[in-house]
Amino acid sequence: MAGFIMLIISFLFSYITITTTLSPDTITLGQSINEGETVVSAGEVYELGFFSPGKSSGRYLGIWYKKDVEKTVVWVANRNTPISDSSGFLSINAQGSLVLRMNSTNDIVWSSNASTTLLNPVAVLLESGNLVVKDGNDNDPDNFLWQSFDYPCNTFLPGMKIGRNLVTSMEWFLSSWKSIDDPAPGDFTFQADPHGFPQLFVKMGPEILYRVGSWNGLRWTGTTQLEPNPVYTYEFVSNEKEVFYTFDIRNRSVPSRMVVSPSGDVQRFTWIDRIKSWSSFFTTGQLDRCENYDLCGSYASCNINKYPDACECFKGFTPKSPGEWEILNWTEGCVRRASLNCNHSDGFLKHEAVKLPDTSNSWVDNNISFAKCEKLCLNNCSCTAYANSDVREGGTRGCLLWFSDLLDIRELAANGQDLYVRVAASELEQLSEKKRVIIIVTCVVSAMGVLVLGWIIFMCKRKLRIQGKL
Ligand SMILES: *[C@@H]1O[C@H](CO)[C@@H](O)[C@H](O)[C@H]1NC(C)=O
Ligand SMILES: *[C@@H]1O[C@H](CO)[C@@H](O)[C@H](O)[C@H]1NC(C)=O
Ligand SMILES: *[C@@H]1O[C@H](CO)[C@@H](O)[C@H](O)[C@H]1NC(C)=O
Ligand SMILES: *[C@@H]1O[C@H](CO)[C@@H](O)[C@H](O)[C@H]1NC(C)=O
Ligand SMILES: *[C@@H]1O[C@H](CO)[C@@H](O)[C@H](O)[C@H]1NC(C)=O
Ligand SMILES: *[C@@H]1O[C@H](CO)[C@@H](O)[C@H](O)[C@H]1NC(C)=O
Ligand SMILES: *[C@@H]1O[C@H](CO)[C@@H](O)[C@H](O)[C@H]1NC(C)=O
Repeated sequence: MAGFIMLIISFLFSYITITTTLSPDTITLGQSINEGETVVSAGEVYELGFFSPGKSSGRYLGIWYKKDVEKTVVWVANRNTPISDSSGFLSINAQGSLVLRMNSTNDIVWSSNASTTLLNPVAVLLESGNLVVKDGNDNDPDNFLWQSFDYPCNTFLPGMKIGRNLVTSMEWFLSSWKSIDDPAPGDFTFQADPHGFPQLFVKMGPEILYRVGSWNGLRWTGTTQLEPNPVYTYEFVSNEKEVFYTFDIRNRSVPSRMVVSPSGDVQRFTWIDRIKSWSSFFTTGQLDRCENYDLCGSYASCNINKYPDACECFKGFTPKSPGEWEILNWTEGCVRRASLNCNHSDGFLKHEAVKLPDTSNSWVDNNISFAKCEKLCLNNCSCTAYANSDVREGGTRGCLLWFSDLLDIRELAANGQDLYVRVAASELEQLSEKKRVIIIVTCVVSAMGVLVLGWIIFMCKRKLRIQGKL
């Protein structure tokens, strides 16, 4: 009986396999992709097959641009487990797992790990470059069993996400190749940190190298690179389910991608059809020294125009290690001159046009009026600063509060935002004292000016009268 059922099932499967039209972008049950064979997306932009990177002799299963003679690889399946001969083949099983095997040993080299049974599992290389496993004609992305876009390698393609699925805790991030000959994960990652107000970081292992910043409604705070442009659009999404950054291209025939290089540079490339090649139009390798994460330590800001004497303590703060600070070692940062009273006598000093500090330890509400922000910060003793979190609509909505020392701040010529730093009342008084002195001096000088002018006029009139001309 069991044998009979098995026979029926296998008959059904072979029937399905035979009747499914074999399109070049699809792998069906019973079909396999061997060395020398490829899967090509419907519009012929992407191709999936076997390749060897650089000087490597190992074989990898990957996706590349079909029209690019360099075969620039955007995704690799078996990053850590190269195939040593040319007997690799990819197939899909009844559970909907993609399985990469070596025919010579029958070992599984890589698998996509799905665990449901589908009636008609197929793998399709979509026009976006996303390799998906789905049930027959079910094209709803929410029902995809598995997709390569959930497992980015070193390349960020249009429609991919960098961020986190807060429900499943799945993280989408880029990781560099070890070298141009080895696609195994290297030291560098480009990832989102969902703590506090979410930010993007370039890291080397656990160490932050570069903080792109947090999203202010239009762009990452303090970035000048991200501007509306004819090639791509971009978007940041943050809700209860997911937090991610994504981009899309305006014209499918003008591909654009971001890559983390083996040396840790994040670069954006756009395809130029005329020269049949990629043009790089942004790289973090060109950023100035003030972009080195936390260069100045706490409560200090970096001004590239004053480099190498680039770091300056905020008003009301003083170097923690004055000796080290003198010799341009800023690691210890700055500390308060006067400690906070933690009551309503504290106040805020405004720092204009800066890249807002690291928001790993912050709180945000994009829907409350900015006018309420100062009071919210003042009411909580641990609050060290506040700023507007959404620059759209004239910055009238959105409040961002910091609950830690303020790090990684720089002065900006463009796209800077205002930061309000909490200080003790005495610092405000000192400042108003200075202001008072300035006002008095100005008054005295003006008064003397008026007197002198009056005297000159008087003398002139007298002279004229003497000359009998008036
Ligand atoms: C594996 O190798 C055998 C013998 O060379 C061949 O008959 C078979 O078709 C191969 N299988 C695949 C999936 O390529
Ligand atoms: C599949 O699952 C196994 C065991 O849970 C794990 O070792 C392997 O890394 C997974 N493979 C992929 C591609 O996620
Ligand atoms: C898209 O780009 C191609 C190649 O550069 C160009 O021929 C085509 O006109 C563009 N399409 C649109 C809608 O701009
Ligand atoms: C900078 O100062 C810190 C703390 O005072 C010290 O530990 C470190 O060695 C100094 N770095 C250099 C390069 O002198
Ligand atoms: C705040 O605290 C300081 C010292 O702790 C005190 O001198 C001052 O009067 C207090 N101000 C208010 C408004 O409570
Ligand atoms: C935002 O605030 C307005 C009024 O303050 C309220 O009507 C609206 O429901 C709020 N929206 C969200 C998403 O909380
Ligand atoms: C101040 O803010 C911190 C961090 O959000 C929070 O843990 C603490 O409960 C707040 N304190 C008060 C008095 O609201």
